[in-house]
Amino acid sequence: MDIRFDFSGRTVVVFGGTSGINLAIAEAFAARGAAVAVASRKQANVDAAVQRLGAHGNPVRGFVADVRDPGSVEAVFGAVRSEFGPVDVLVSGAAGNFLAEANELSSNGFKVVVDIDLNGTFHVLRAGFEHLAPGASVINITAPQAVIPVRYQAHVCAAKAGVDQLTRVLALEWGGKGIRVNAIAPGPIAGTEGLARLSPGDDPDGDRSVKTVPLGRFGTKEEIADLAMFLSSSAAAYISGAVIPCDGGGSYESVRGIEEAGRFLASAPR
Ligand code: COA
Ligand code: NAP
Repeated sequence: MDIRFDFSGRTVVVFGGTSGINLAIAEAFAARGAAVAVASRKQANVDAAVQRLGAHGNPVRGFVADVRDPGSVEAVFGAVRSEFGPVDVLVSGAAGNFLAEANELSSNGFKVVVDIDLNGTFHVLRAGFEHLAPGASVINITAPQAVIPVRYQAHVCAAKAGVDQLTRVLALEWGGKGIRVNAIAPGPIAGTEGLARLSPGDDPDGDRSVKTVPLGRFGTKEEIADLAMFLSSSAAAYISGAVIPCDGGGSYESVRGIEEAGRFLASAPR
């Protein structure tokens, strides 16, 4: 193994780390020696993730926490700090998504996504700051919708745009302390809840939307995890404040598949 990607003795915390892309990120670090903590809302998800991560033989802890609740986020950091020590890698990836036209979205529907994706990321980073080790890597999981306006995604576009700017501002503020703050913007990733929610209802295999990706296929969770490891390694020591797409070359094209899905749903009989 390239020594730069050996995370033995490091502590990694992944919020929203019990499924999908974030779990793959947690698993990549667990497989390379790190002590890993994951947190999300549902006990069953936490238990399943802990079992899976534990198979790699390194220390693992799981926590039930809602990123909308700063107190529950702080409790995670308190427990991780006393068990594993300062945090070397902090990933904020909890998110919610669904297709809805803005004029059919209730205030609470808009708010719930902003609360999880944007305010939740602030709570995670704000509470995590005092527990970060010197040279720590912070990674926010954003989305192409942060920069590309997408119909049926007003709530997500607004929330993830905020996540991108939070990433850049905290890179400015924390750079002097040696902490790097970056974001990953995945394109459509196979086998995820996010893709399932945004695939056309008549196109469960995603055949239509995969054609919009220049590389001709969906990404894998492991490819996002590889980028997270790179960003947390000494190979990325001079990268901070970056929002990095990992999208097969085509976020600008592939988000149009989301609009097709929204149109399909909007035209479906209710
Ligand atoms: N269309 C329009 N509005 C919707 C909606 C949809 N498909 N799904 C939820 N909402 C609205 C609800 O109606 C509610 O508003 P109201 O009180 O005015 O009726 C509001 O959103 C909150 O819904 P609720 O189900 O109470 O929220 P929750 O906190 O239990 O769940 C969600 C949060 C809605 C984001 C839920 O989809 C979730 O848990 N997502 C996590 C998994 C996920 O989205 N993964 C993909 C990540 S990319
Ligand atoms: P996912 O499997 O649904 O992952 C979301 C995770 O967040 C789950 O572990 C969920 O667990 C947790 N979570 C949700 N609300 C939470 C809350 N309030 N507090 C704490 N945890 C919460 O989705 P995914 O598709 O892998 O997406 C992961 C990330 O990638 C998200 O940030 C998403 O925006 C981004 N992304 C995904 C794609 C894609 O193609 N999938 C594309 C672009 C960006 P609980 O239910 O137990 O809380």
